[in-house]
Amino acid sequence: MRARVASAVASSAAPATLSLGPGGALVGRVRVPGDKSISQRAAILGALTAGETRIDGFLRAGDPLALLAALTACGIEHRFDEAPGGQPDAHPVADSTLRIRGRPVWSTPRAPLDLGNSGTALRLLAGAIAGQPIAATLTGDASLSARPMERVAVPLRAMGAEVATRDGRPPLIVQGARPLRGIEWRPEVASAQVKSAILLAGLAAVGEVAVHEPVATRDHTERMLVAFGVDCCRDGDRVHLGPGRTLRAARIAVPGDLSSAAALVIGAAMTPGSELTIEGVGLNPTRSAFLEVLRAMGADLTVELNRAADAAEPTGRIAVRGRELVATTIDGQLAQQAIDELPMLMVAAATARGTSRLADAAELRHKESDRLANTAAGLAALGIAVALHPDGLTVEGRPRAAAFDGGTVDAHDDHRLAMAFALAALRAGRRVTVTRTAAIDTSFPGFDRIVRGLGLALEST
Ligand code: S3P
Repeated sequence: MRARVASAVASSAAPATLSLGPGGALVGRVRVPGDKSISQRAAILGALTAGETRIDGFLRAGDPLALLAALTACGIEHRFDEAPGGQPDAHPVADSTLRIRGRPVWSTPRAPLDLGNSGTALRLLAGAIAGQPIAATLTGDASLSARPMERVAVPLRAMGAEVATRDGRPPLIVQGARPLRGIEWRPEVASAQVKSAILLAGLAAVGEVAVHEPVATRDHTERMLVAFGVDCCRDGDRVHLGPGRTLRAARIAVPGDLSSAAALVIGAAMTPGSELTIEGVGLNPTRSAFLEVLRAMGADLTVELNRAADAAEPTGRIAVRGRELVATTIDGQLAQQAIDELPMLMVAAATARGTSRLADAAELRHKESDRLANTAAGLAALGIAVALHPDGLTVEGRPRAAAFDGGTVDAHDDHRLAMAFALAALRAGRRVTVTRTAAIDTSFPGFDRIVRGLGLALEST
């Protein structure tokens, strides 16, 4: 199974080091690959549903492919449609259609399920397996093995599953049960993954299943549950399942990933001369807080919703022109809701006029790497004055054409850092080399080809 994932990813393997000439701008009109969060939810709900679920635009990248391999080990069959012309769909950026033949009762996997780099896959799968009459061990790579899991284990135990962790981290050993008990959960940390794990487990529970969110997190699971025929709604801060919990096979359209688009949009916004349009991108309001931050920084942005679409997720187009930005403060709810885009926003802050402040972002330390410390180190390596705080950063902007010095930056095998530091080259005075960048393939296969086509002077090594 590992071999299958590896070869699927290898068809588009991102370089391990990116070498970038300074300057340039992002000019053009592109689509980005399918949304990672939505693809993973569609795969899990399809796997739990009797019959065939069709998923158009499924992201064929490392994280969703690791999830598919784990579902296969639980007895779930899937196949990708051949691309038009009878060629296997080798091009991961092209839309790919995935068909999953789901089963309400899964089989016990014979070996540990390796979810690679994906916290979403591991935490959501833990929720789904908690409601299955099976046992499974869930593991991941070195990064995932360092991430906190009690936040998901504690509520799943309260619902009646047995969940063991190793000092709060993977591997997770989950012994599911059916039926589970209901739950009224108040997490300390707002997390869409924890909320989703509880809702997925809740499909096998009797009684009330509800999560009170300290801050509204991305609501893809709720929207997709509704698309699969389940009663799921929000009243104030309370997200809950109703009595109708039977899944019906669905046809899902996955929009372009707004977080992947964000790297390009922010890169273009901070680079005078850029003129970029992203088409067919998801515009879910629980994901778009980075656009609000960019507007506060004075970015020239136009966002057009596709009004004709009646899909579960809003989609549309983002157009951006580059210009000099001004410093900003990101804290509270905004920091939580722009969490995946914060490293890239800090790169933009380094080019802006004034001092930018990020606070209330301690969760960044628990992502694919310690994104707070590693963003600070990367900006410092490029000549920026940056202070690291327990829950944020202070960044002194250098509002001149060559805001960044050249140099070598370590992306720490973290896809968002790799993309953020690569795009810093647009405003650098000398060559930028970004090391440990292969993880870009977990979320954005074809990144190097797309940014080169838009005008980034990227040479792969
Ligand atoms: C995700 C939720 C977020 C986000 C992650 C993807 C998801 O994490 O950072 O990249 O797909 O549910 P939280 O669970 O901390 O909200």
